[in-house]
Amino acid sequence: MSHFRWLAIFLGAWLLGLLLLPEPSSGQDTTSSKQTKMRVLVPQKRCKISVDGKVIEGKAADVREFTAPELKKDKKEYEVTVTWRTNNYTRFYRSKKVAPKPGGVVEVDLRESDPTNPDHIEIRFVPTPNDVVRRMCQLAKVSKDDVVFDLGCGDGRMVLIALDEFKAKRGVGIDLDPQRIKESKENAERMKLTDKVEFREGDVLKIKDLSEASVVLLYMGDDVNLRLRPILQKTLKPGSRIVSHRFGMGDWKPDRSETFEAADGDEYTIHLWTIK
Ligand SMILES: C[S@@+](CC[C@H](N)C(=O)[O-])C[C@H]1O[C@@H](n2cnc3c(N)ncnc32)[C@H](O)[C@@H]1O
Repeated sequence: MSHFRWLAIFLGAWLLGLLLLPEPSSGQDTTSSKQTKMRVLVPQKRCKISVDGKVIEGKAADVREFTAPELKKDKKEYEVTVTWRTNNYTRFYRSKKVAPKPGGVVEVDLRESDPTNPDHIEIRFVPTPNDVVRRMCQLAKVSKDDVVFDLGCGDGRMVLIALDEFKAKRGVGIDLDPQRIKESKENAERMKLTDKVEFREGDVLKIKDLSEASVVLLYMGDDVNLRLRPILQKTLKPGSRIVSHRFGMGDWKPDRSETFEAADGDEYTIHLWTIK
């Protein structure tokens, strides 16, 4: 018999075996009976779910059901994270830790934000044109006595212009993205302003104290501004100014807003609040 015929017989017998062999009985200790199933209630139909960083594929739905990946060796809990966009710039992250339930279903309700573990928010880098930054500094009346902060500083241009052209005393820029901090530091070197400026990597939503700032410049988003508002109101000294490019602060009405056409031909709006 040819080799091919033997191979065909062997494959046929193997397939038949697969079809005829009984399923393992429920009493047996199979892997699937040890696995945890998850039922995740999500804040938005179209969102991404990950468990311990592993993305779970699935169709958009209000409730997503799946088998959790194996729990990592040294871990006692899973971390379930949902992320979604509220607009082109803004991504939300909401997480919860849950214990495994081998052979059972764990329900994870992520529909509402948990005040004890607030959502993380990230805004995409979009620079403010330099002439708009100048208008922001003018609106804030930046001068030699000011310490200027930019929360979400991008390439550092806001604080660098405040130092270079408005002669601010000191500048601090904070950004989540190490690449942006690197660019900010390079720009400070190029402009010979390193002795007056500090660029730090960090999450602005974790800032607890802004009392060092006399001017805060912002180009973030409505959600981030609202989250920053209590810290700004509580920790800035009276007379400190906040100027935000485009976005407001909920029902905290600005003292002044300006809308103008910039050099690129687009229309821009900036808002000023002064701490009373
Ligand atoms: C719209 S850009 C503004 C950049 C700069 N302020 C400007 O106007 O040219 C927002 C910046 O905030 C940073 N960012 C976003 N979410 C952040 C967060 N939670 N904490 C710190 N920085 C953040 C981004 O990396 C990005 O560089």
